Amino acid sequence: EGSANVEGLVPPAPFDCKNDPSMLAAVNSVFYNAVAAFVPEMAHTLGRLVEKSKMLKNGDYQCKEAMPLFAQLKAKGALPAGVNSPVQVAQAIVANIPKDNEVVDMDSINVNGPGFILCRVKKEYLEYHLNTVMNSSIDGADPKLPLPKSVLEKPETVVVDFSSPNIAKEMHVGHLRSTIIGEAVCRILEFTGADVKRINHVGDWGTQFGMLITYLKEAFPTFGHSDDDVDIGGLTAFYKKAKMRFDEDADFKKTSQLNVVKLQAGDEECRKIWQKLCDISRIEFEKVYKRLDITLEECGESFYNPKIPAVIEEFEEKKLIQVEEGGAKCVFVPKHKIPLMLQKSDGGFGYDSTDMTALKYRLNDLAATRLVYITDFTQGDHFDMCFRAADKAGWVEPKKHRLEHIGFGTVQGEDGKRFKTRSGETVRLVDLLDEAVKRMEESLMERINEKKAVITEDQVPEVASAMGYGAVKYFDLRRNPTSNYKFSYDEMLDTRGNTAIYLLYAHARLESIISKGLADHKIDVNEIIKNKSVKITLDHPAERNLALHLHMFADMIEEVLQDLYPYRVCDFLYALSNAVSDFVTKCKVLGSPEMESRLLLCRSSAIVMRQCFELLAIRHVDRI
Ligand code: ARG
Repeated sequence: EGSANVEGLVPPAPFDCKNDPSMLAAVNSVFYNAVAAFVPEMAHTLGRLVEKSKMLKNGDYQCKEAMPLFAQLKAKGALPAGVNSPVQVAQAIVANIPKDNEVVDMDSINVNGPGFILCRVKKEYLEYHLNTVMNSSIDGADPKLPLPKSVLEKPETVVVDFSSPNIAKEMHVGHLRSTIIGEAVCRILEFTGADVKRINHVGDWGTQFGMLITYLKEAFPTFGHSDDDVDIGGLTAFYKKAKMRFDEDADFKKTSQLNVVKLQAGDEECRKIWQKLCDISRIEFEKVYKRLDITLEECGESFYNPKIPAVIEEFEEKKLIQVEEGGAKCVFVPKHKIPLMLQKSDGGFGYDSTDMTALKYRLNDLAATRLVYITDFTQGDHFDMCFRAADKAGWVEPKKHRLEHIGFGTVQGEDGKRFKTRSGETVRLVDLLDEAVKRMEESLMERINEKKAVITEDQVPEVASAMGYGAVKYFDLRRNPTSNYKFSYDEMLDTRGNTAIYLLYAHARLESIISKGLADHKIDVNEIIKNKSVKITLDHPAERNLALHLHMFADMIEEVLQDLYPYRVCDFLYALSNAVSDFVTKCKVLGSPEMESRLLLCRSSAIVMRQCFELLAIRHVDRI
């Protein structure tokens, strides 16, 4: 592969298309070299030259460089002899692609429209990578899917602040979204080698504790001292009653405010009650996390309380504080009319004070270079202000740090209104999860009764919870987080369309073909993988198309790393599973002359699907 070697210019390092799985980079380097050979003096101005084709039936990759290149050459009066149109520039680029390159299939190249170049990658290139991955298995276990070198070169320390429910309140659908999205974000980052701090920034320090403490002292004097059995339901009831007293009774309100101050100052009695409230809530949160396979480290608002004064002092020293009438300490930031309030007029600290302190702690003490906050979109302004204030304080180095808020939309009922139960209550998270699993159990029992299932009745609970929770998660993850969506059991549990249920069935079908291969045809895929004697060949277009999708995994990961939107994994998974179903429809697997290669292609597909499920925290099942 001849790369441009023009004096004074630095060509990109030669791309190693055999050892780096990025297909985009591989195709790009072929085009880079071709353009650089055609117009060496322009080589240093070239950016990315190719993109994945939007219509895969026309080609795998597309290069649109001919049009701007023509315009540039024309403007400089530098058009080579005989080149008078963008189409001719495109043809010249193509003519400079070495016939013996390892990536681009020369017969597939096609110049159309005003000068678009469409191409496919060579089947040998795909075969090589597929076989290499499969033969990298250790003892027959699912091989680790390779990642682009560019991704592996820069592992970061990332704080992901997610879930973060409030003590003494029940988790609601909003917290469910944050929890589901956050877990997927963490897994994606971890998969690329990042050191991820999964932080549960629980609301354990707000003003709600004043009224709860006041109410409990009055109505439940033994609370905090005895082992009375109070669960989260009891707490929610206390909360409601306390709130009522707070709103109605001025004295109660005053005492409550005093109790907040006492708590924050470390009063023993108040601390005891507070501690008990936290313990009860924590048990409840843990139950949800356990069910959904969520891992979190609690580091709530209270943790930062003692660190707040130093941060306020720093802002004061840097002359960034404006004291409002009444004495509140505020920080104004660009683009926002209202300020952040670092200290209230009564001397208390609030949400802003805590978040600024947490931000500094994460950058300094945790040495994180990327901070990701996942909450509903209404908190977008709050975080934008925090990020700007941090910038003003000089905490952020633009080249080094990245601060992001993923603000997600609202979950609505099927009527398009806020998600409520029939009686108008907010929906409890646990009930919602129970319902999804219950419906899944019913549908699996139906399959068993119709003799369509391979599982037995005693396996139903486990499979139903994997599929039910998976359905709830995927229904959320598959869309852009910023969008609102209607919560619909029927839609999320549909066996067709872009649902976890469809995907889990597709995966199980692959494993069932593999089992039949062993039972009826004595081909042991596991043995072949163990012996590292995998040889997949891709002669049918549907085989090649499936391999193309499998090999796009690495580029998909690189892409999702940019904005951390898990729907990119979902889109990939769904497209892959359509390629799988096209393959099994058009290519006979069992009993065909290509049976061994095709069974291995089935296993490769199952492996990539499993990896995606894993990234999304969806439990896969092998048999349904
Ligand atoms: N507890 C907050 C809520 O329920 C979310 C906290 C998000 N994280 C943060 N660092 N502010 O709305």
